[in-house]
Amino acid sequence: MALVAKRELACFFLMMMIMAFSGACMAATYIVGDSAGWTIQIPVDYTKWSSTNNFHVGDKIVFTYNKQFHNVLQVTHQNFQSCNATSPIASYTSGSDSITLKSPGNFYYLCGVPGHCQAGQKVPIKVIRASARSPSLAPSESALSGSPSAFIAPSPSPSSAPIIQSSKFWLAVTALAFYLIG
Ligand SMILES: *[C@@H]1O[C@H](CO)[C@@H](O)[C@H](O)[C@H]1NC(C)=O
Repeated sequence: MALVAKRELACFFLMMMIMAFSGACMAATYIVGDSAGWTIQIPVDYTKWSSTNNFHVGDKIVFTYNKQFHNVLQVTHQNFQSCNATSPIASYTSGSDSITLKSPGNFYYLCGVPGHCQAGQKVPIKVIRASARSPSLAPSESALSGSPSAFIAPSPSPSSAPIIQSSKFWLAVTALAFYLIG
């Protein structure tokens, strides 16, 4: 009985670790504006919010809002700056729009309801390649202010540290699992 319980515990533990680990190194999901969501009722500095996150190819951004009052339009850099919503590249209206970031570059979203973009309901998203995931790529790298053509791919620094970290991590997990199985 005790052995079975230990095994179950070990399996459960491993599963939790796998979930936690995959969440840490694979595609991430970002709620635009975090708990505030996509709104003008709560003043959110979406540019600041965006600059504090590192978006990678494969990640998802989710716009959550009341669809009676807002929407999401992807626009060009120029139309983003002038809050021009007349010819969006893409539009989303579900109230919970999940957008997968498919390629590196700068992407621009605003709310097309008159006045909302002017009130600050606009967000630039700078997407970098998935292989470049590293905490050292600081938000200070202000490519958000540049034009899409000014996008400079991050130098392909071989990120050996996270690999070492993860193998150590797995060693620890495996050791613990074996210990629990006994
Ligand atoms: C808005 O953008 C469209 C297409 O990009 C353009 O034709 C139109 O003149 C712009 N409107 C304003 C007010 O700038």
